[in-house]
Amino acid sequence: MAAVQCTTIETHGDAIPTMDLTISRNNPTPPPDFYAYHNPHGHRDDEQVQDQDHHQHHQRPARAPGEKKPFLARVCTTNRRPHTTHTCSMSTSTTGVTLLHRLHHSRSILSLALNGAHIFAGSQSGSILVWSLATYSLVATLRGHSGSVLSLHLSDRLLFSSAGDAIVQVWCTQTLKNLYTIYSTFDVGDVFCVAYEPKARTAYFGAQNTSVQWIDLKAVAKCVTGEAHPSKRVHRFFDSKGPGGRSTPRPEGDDGGDDSGAGKTLLEIEPVNIVQYAHFGYVYCMLVLSASHIGLGSSSLLLTGGGDGDVKLWAIDPVTGGISELRTLAGGDSGVLSMVVKDTLLYTGLTDGEIHIWDLDTCQKVRSVQAHCDDVLTLAVKGEYIFSGSASGFTRKWNMRFKCVSRWRAHEGLVLASAVAERNGRLLYITGGNDDCVGVWDVEPFPAKASTKEEKGEGEGELLSSLAKLVAFRTVSSDPNCAEECRRGAAFLKSLCKRFGATASLLPTDGGRNPVVFARFEGAKKKGGKGKTLLFYGHYDVIPASSEGSGWKTDPFSLTGVDGYLYGRGVSDNKGPCLAALFAAGGLLQSGKLKSDIVFLIEGEEESGSRGFKDTVKKHKDLIGDVDWILFANSYWLDDDTPCLTYGLRGVIHATITIQSEKPDLHSGVDGSSLNRQPTIELITLLSRLTSPTGEILLPNFSASIRPVSPSEEGMYLPISASLHANPTSPFHGLPQQEITAYLMSKWRYPSLTIHRVDVSGPSNNSTLIPRSASATISLRIVPDQSVSAVTFSLHTHLASSYPGSNSLSIDISHSAEPWLGDISNDAFSSLRRAIVRIWGTQPLFIREGGSIPMARLLEEEFGAPAAHLPCGQASDMAHLDNERLRVKNLFGARDVLGRVFEELTAGNGNGAVSGKATNGVNGVNGENE
Ligand code: BES
Ligand code: MN
Repeated sequence: MAAVQCTTIETHGDAIPTMDLTISRNNPTPPPDFYAYHNPHGHRDDEQVQDQDHHQHHQRPARAPGEKKPFLARVCTTNRRPHTTHTCSMSTSTTGVTLLHRLHHSRSILSLALNGAHIFAGSQSGSILVWSLATYSLVATLRGHSGSVLSLHLSDRLLFSSAGDAIVQVWCTQTLKNLYTIYSTFDVGDVFCVAYEPKARTAYFGAQNTSVQWIDLKAVAKCVTGEAHPSKRVHRFFDSKGPGGRSTPRPEGDDGGDDSGAGKTLLEIEPVNIVQYAHFGYVYCMLVLSASHIGLGSSSLLLTGGGDGDVKLWAIDPVTGGISELRTLAGGDSGVLSMVVKDTLLYTGLTDGEIHIWDLDTCQKVRSVQAHCDDVLTLAVKGEYIFSGSASGFTRKWNMRFKCVSRWRAHEGLVLASAVAERNGRLLYITGGNDDCVGVWDVEPFPAKASTKEEKGEGEGELLSSLAKLVAFRTVSSDPNCAEECRRGAAFLKSLCKRFGATASLLPTDGGRNPVVFARFEGAKKKGGKGKTLLFYGHYDVIPASSEGSGWKTDPFSLTGVDGYLYGRGVSDNKGPCLAALFAAGGLLQSGKLKSDIVFLIEGEEESGSRGFKDTVKKHKDLIGDVDWILFANSYWLDDDTPCLTYGLRGVIHATITIQSEKPDLHSGVDGSSLNRQPTIELITLLSRLTSPTGEILLPNFSASIRPVSPSEEGMYLPISASLHANPTSPFHGLPQQEITAYLMSKWRYPSLTIHRVDVSGPSNNSTLIPRSASATISLRIVPDQSVSAVTFSLHTHLASSYPGSNSLSIDISHSAEPWLGDISNDAFSSLRRAIVRIWGTQPLFIREGGSIPMARLLEEEFGAPAAHLPCGQASDMAHLDNERLRVKNLFGARDVLGRVFEELTAGNGNGAVSGKATNGVNGVNGENE
């Protein structure tokens, strides 16, 4: 009896036990490649293989006599690499290949499967991770294996997983529940592959002990009844301790207390359902296909690929599911690691980087191609393309003539798994590697046309790719060098609107500032109808960001998808929300559901105080026409979990205070004396008079006009503080509710003052200089019942009267915004609330914000229409900061919420059918007024 230690394994975290492969009576003599798995080597920097095909009989790379390929060791040990920072972004592409998203895990991804809704990823940790294809959020972690999940196979609603723990699990893809646990009484070792024949309802698996085994799921019922149920007794598989005292976990929900059926079914392979020595080597891969189309009878075929280099064809008995050997395709001495079939051709991926192509009709090898410089660990096929992934870290896309059409590095390590599927008219390819992540790639249209959904712009892919394009324009309004890019960004939005069928144009602004994108999505107005016109306001300009010397982990102007988030400057503030709104309106227009107009005003100067916007709007009042409701989507939730509606914003006054001497810059030694009134000292004295030592703002009568907190207003803070107090992920978790309320009130309903910077004249490195002038930029956040004009006046008089010196004082207001308070009882807020409950399944929190949107109040006044505000992002979005991001789920959530609200309001189907305009004055009417 020979014992072979297949040393895997793991040094940290939930370590995987060392496998002890015992060659005993149940195990055959080890195959030739059995002992060879102790030689892991890392990936190579690049593939030295040219894109040239090597036809049959070509020379294989020389290999030392007896040298074996170290496939298993690399799969099992997969030396962990540090997480790669997400460098590849959505807008960089390698010949038509675009990285849509990267999903990270803590262990290697060894197997993958893809259906219309989910990515299933089998990991080295034994878990199967399930991610949503729509939002890239992790929706479930299936736990049923204690060893690496080596293979996944989907068949309709069944997901089969096989693992290094010698078990096959069967899961329902709908409920994500475990249905069956299949095991053999033999020590099969690692189960490398699993497949399913739906007509015979038989599952097959291939294992390390060179056997192929199968189980007939039709016969399952008889295995689960009464006392005979294996879970009722001490089970030698699950309850015995393995090496190190570890036992195989029973699948979740398998508590043995209920034997009513699904999720509790243990199935033991019958000894007659085993072909021992199916290969003279590990059975690495298998697939099931119909025999009829290759002229081998009418039933189905099982194909198995082995470490012995052979592919075997087995006939499947349509009644029993049993298999009998038909043919062997003897390929040579390179192990067959992966297989796919397209029409009548079989493609095999081999241990030395070759791909062999077989004609299954004649069982002849058509040709061999040196596809990669290292093991071809995974193959996938869809439509007109074949994809190969290699231990070199590279992936290749091949056409039907087996010409390589794209080649790219998919992983920092081995490409261990792949899957491909069509989604919304695009070909989606996913890869898994030992860099612990899944890459999601868009690999060209399939077929070469967009689906009707995508043409209409309804698919998720279209919204994401539009956002990637929009983020790539450096629309930094504060940087004059970005003027052209701002215009290109605006033109992109205009043409996007036109593609949806809207009329759109760019409205110029005075002083050559960035233009305003104007679009009208015209609804099918009925005469005398009660439909209302909506105005959506947003901005396409952004705060500066640079990848060099900053904290950005990705290029800020290249949208990058990582773990359910999109990273990029402006993605949350405000490009993502603007596109969510445009796609919502576009969807309604295309589907004929838009009853009245939606007008868009998307400006390019918001981050610079909305320069020129007001005049442009006034100038084009006729073009814009009447408006009943105004909507914004330019703020954030209070935490990362609870949807919110924002009904208040503070205003802001930005001022620069300058003190200037008539004298030039002086020398502090030569000229310095108490007779000099230094501008810097005077400025600091003046600034110190703006606030008291406790932080109170000292402008006269500054806070007198602010309304006192009414009981009803106080009441509005209760659900907010309760929610933040209870949420373990909120920064306020566990704090007394009163403390939370006081903190929120201080940001939302009370003013604040900031000194942003103090500058002096002269060179900054001259420490003997008395600067001739000094200036400070300050801002005041103001709140309802305060006004820009009154506070500006107060600031002027206070500074002038408290200025002690004889130099000249000047105050310049660079920009300002009035505060805004909405009416949460109006139809727009009611509609938003209903839509949030519908889309997010929970009531929103009604909140206010400390930030400002200069145009909120202004647009209300200009159009005599009330505004409502839907925050799209999460508290952790990092707007204006490094690594700004937006969760994919929030982007689509915003699109869906706005879609419902647009439909409802333009149809005039508000709650009480009360129009904003008819009854709501806009002069401070709000839910907090008594
Ligand atoms: N999206 C913000 C407004 C905002 C900030 C709302 C924080 C909620 C919380 C907007 O784009 C912005 O940056 N506003 C500026 C206005 C300024 C440039 C006049 C602000 O608040 O400082
Ligand atoms: Mn902003």
